[in-house]
Amino acid sequence: MIAWSDDILIGLDVIDQQHREIFSRVQKIIIINSQESAYKSASENLVFLMTYVKEHLSAEEKLMEESTYPRLAEHKELHARLLIAADRIYENIKTDGITPLNVLDIESLLMGWFKTHILTHDKDFAEYLKQ
Ligand SMILES: [Fe+2]
Repeated sequence: MIAWSDDILIGLDVIDQQHREIFSRVQKIIIINSQESAYKSASENLVFLMTYVKEHLSAEEKLMEESTYPRLAEHKELHARLLIAADRIYENIKTDGITPLNVLDIESLLMGWFKTHILTHDKDFAEYLKQ
């Protein structure tokens, strides 16, 4: 583990403080990534989540099939794209671990899913069912 050393100080307080801040933030990320238990529980969550999401999407599609939802094909296509994006992030995490970039990817995928897919497309299906 890298540690802060005053050798790194350049003597400009403002800049030194910023360096120190950057250093401590990076250190925190490294600590999170290297903590065996934190990493293990995050990985377990991730494996669970991937399975859970796949099952959820299949269940949704099955319900659409059973109710002869007219936009099933289009909806399945959106699910397929969602899964491709999720799989890509999952593969990145398996290779690189849980990096800030991977966390950002997860967040934006989830926000896109919740804000666009669910509110627009899943809602459309729900409206159809109520008819
Ligand atoms: Fe959906």
